[in-house]
Formats: sequence, C-alpha cells, structure tokens
Amino acid sequence: MINLAILISGRGSNMAAILNAIENKQITNVDKVVVIANRSDAVGLQIAKNLYGVPTEIILKKNLTNEEFDIKLLDILKLYNVNTSNGLICLAGFMQILGEFIVNMYAHRILNIHPSLLPSFKGLNAQKQALDAGVKISGCTVHFVDTAVDNGPIILQKCVPIFDSDNETSLSKRILGEEHKIYKDAINLFIGNKLKFKGNRVFIS
Ligand code: GAR
Repeated sequence: MINLAILISGRGSNMAAILNAIENKQITNVDKVVVIANRSDAVGLQIAKNLYGVPTEIILKKNLTNEEFDIKLLDILKLYNVNTSNGLICLAGFMQILGEFIVNMYAHRILNIHPSLLPSFKGLNAQKQALDAGVKISGCTVHFVDTAVDNGPIILQKCVPIFDSDNETSLSKRILGEEHKIYKDAINLFIGNKLKFKGNRVFIS
C-alpha cells in the first residue's frame, strides 16, 4: 500500500481524475491520500474535500522562503505518513518548483504531468508554445521530477494531433483528456513496481 500526496495550485482536474480512479478502483493499493495546495483559492481543494472526502492542506507560498515552504511540506507529508519508503507525491498542476532537498529525499517518488511532449515546451503555456512553434503533433508527458522545471526521467507520453482549426483552448482540452488517462496509468505502474531505471530512461517491466 502507498500513501499519496497530490500537490495542486488550481482547478485540479488531474487531481480529480486520480481521486476518481481511486474511488472506482482503477487505482488500487492506496491507503492515505492528502491534497496539498500552495494557494488558498485553488478550486481543486473544494473538489477534494466536498466530492471525494479527502483531507486538504494549504501552505501559502507568499511570505515563505523556498526552504520554509519545503519544511512545512515535509511536516504535512510526515503527518499523512507519505514517507520515503511507501509514499508517492503527484504534482498535478502544481506551479512551483520543489526544493532540491525534498526532490533528492523523495528521489523517484515524485511524479509530474505536463501538457507537451517533453523535452519540448517546458514551463508555462505549453499548449500555446506548441501552437506558436507550428508543430503538428503535441501531447502530454508523465515524468519523475528532478530539480529542473518539467524535467526528469519520462514514464509515459501520449501524442495529440494539432488541427488547423485549433486554438489554445481547443488544443488544451484535447491534451487534458489524455493527461487524465496517462497520469492514472503511470501511477498504477509506479504502485505495481513496474518502473525500472537505466540512466535517464525508464523501462516498464
Ligand atoms: C495541466 O494541464 C497540467 O499538465 C499543467 O497544468 C494543468 C493543470 O490542470 N501542468 C504544467 O503545466 C506543469 N508544468 P489541472 O489543475 O486541471 O490538473
């Protein structure tokens, strides 16, 4: 069994897809779950609490140094027993870089989802970056987190075509539908201990 912390900053649709999959037993072997936001107005907090009955915590980044934020985060992870032997941390639209200390402490236990085929289009507005670059295919990526933005060994990717009629909204929506599927799949692979590493590559056994 794993204990899961989902970190969000906003609407939390990936978080909701994960919580829904746990509720519907599409993700199993999860014991405790906590949702942690770095903003008190993150819409996902209400969804976690009211729709899924999942405990939520807020750490306001404002007025905190990165180190102070990480210390508070570690306290909460400890409280919910999301530890370095049975814990998994999923970043789901969490728009903040985690400190090196936590990333190293939870090495290969922190996942992130990003709306592009990494390593292309890291950072904010990945879908707009793809449209501006004129690529014909974009997609989404679930990867292990390292200390750089949207970087780390890639677990799963899904291609999404870009149509002539697309704008940022339509493309984001099509990619988001795939995000919800591959995040769930990647979490299952992690829980099933199916992910093996060789250098920067992740192999699915
Ligand atoms: C998602 O598209 C996610 O991939 C992206 O933020 C959105 C959050 O939506 N994350 C990043 O861009 C990370 N660099 P959600 O709150 O509805 O899950």
